[in-house]
Amino acid sequence: MQRCSLSLTTQEHSTTTVYLTDSFSELACLIKTIAPSSSVIITHPHIEELYGKKLLEKMHEEQCEVILMTIPSGEAYKTREMLILLQDRLLEYGCDRQTLIIALGGGMLVDVAGFLAATTLRGLPWIVIPTSLLAMVDAAIGGKTGVNTELGKNLIGAIHHPIAVWIAPHVLQTLPRAEWINGFAEIIKYGAILDEELFSLLESLAHLDCTQLPKETLCYLIQKSYSHKIDIVQRDHRDHWIRAILNFGHTVGHALEQAHQYTISHGEAVALGMVIEGYISMLYGCSEQTFTRLYTLIRQYQFPLRLFSIPSWNAWIKLLNSDKKTKDKTPRCVLLKTIGSVQMFDGDYCTTLSDKDLLDGYNWMCKEFF
Ligand SMILES: NC(=O)c1ccc[n+]([C@@H]2O[C@H](COP(=O)([O-])OP(=O)(O)OC[C@H]3O[C@@H](n4cnc5c(N)ncnc54)[C@H](O)[C@@H]3O)[C@@H](O)[C@H]2O)c1
Repeated sequence: MQRCSLSLTTQEHSTTTVYLTDSFSELACLIKTIAPSSSVIITHPHIEELYGKKLLEKMHEEQCEVILMTIPSGEAYKTREMLILLQDRLLEYGCDRQTLIIALGGGMLVDVAGFLAATTLRGLPWIVIPTSLLAMVDAAIGGKTGVNTELGKNLIGAIHHPIAVWIAPHVLQTLPRAEWINGFAEIIKYGAILDEELFSLLESLAHLDCTQLPKETLCYLIQKSYSHKIDIVQRDHRDHWIRAILNFGHTVGHALEQAHQYTISHGEAVALGMVIEGYISMLYGCSEQTFTRLYTLIRQYQFPLRLFSIPSWNAWIKLLNSDKKTKDKTPRCVLLKTIGSVQMFDGDYCTTLSDKDLLDGYNWMCKEFF
């Protein structure tokens, strides 16, 4: 496979380089050059077995000083308590400002390990080796790190860009099928909001088993997706303006994850969120044809698209309001214009929704998915 690198440079002059290659030996060499003192790999026990041990071995061959720490997997562990535990272990180990944090896992691990890097000794360097499709196309890029609280998702966190993102597509061979589908939620999102050509390609691939795509096609989808993310983050890395469009499907999606106490996955919730926000988009001028195209593609990728419980109307509004885009206690959403573009509202990429439109969306959601 070709080795390629792409750089994201933010206004604050942090640069992230993205590498796409399957070679763990090259990775160990790179780490050797960027970690002069020591490195700490953060991963899950089963990812340690699958890939962590091999990475340790390659790093030892390069004479790197490295230790490995594991945390349980699952959104339920993306908490402040987990962060404190890791911070204490890191300080006990005797890390210094040059210690490199290596996040090896899916999006949940990336968020926690990144926040650990952002907060320990006021900021340690870190790199990401995403192991889920969702993390490769989305979570690994852009520097958003954080944890959930009882009151909402990702409410405590920081923006802290990794030095490098190392994408090794071969690790996806052990990814469970449902997690592949979750990754496609974010790829479909890029097509829907930014790239009609990518969306059409996804339509043409929809009859195939998404876990069995030819390697070139898979790499193309991964590269296309992270390139879109890099482009948007580069233009607005502090998330004050256009970066909001990456949140299409997420106002509703995050509320649904919370309503189900994280028993539905992030990808599943975002897929549902895109359909429901797509429906609401029609109340703001998006055509029925555009909405149908989006809904059809999401159904074709076999997302479960079902809800196990529906919060009351008041609880629903409270959940929507826990989103970080909320302004003046009113939920805000990114709305679709056509496939490949979103609507603009007085120069802003998201808009507040009237009670009537929220209620319309809520009633449709209950009827369609419960
Ligand atoms: N920071 C961001 O910009 C950003 C963007 C999108 C999503 N997220 C966050 O990412 C999380 C969702 O990420 P996710 O979908 O990767 O879920 P996840 O990290 O929970 O991983 C899903 C499951 O797959 C397992 N897994 C991962 N890679 C594997 C592999 N190669 N082989 C076998 N099993 C593997 C994990 O251990 C886990 O059990 C959410 O917490 C979401 O909020 C963050």
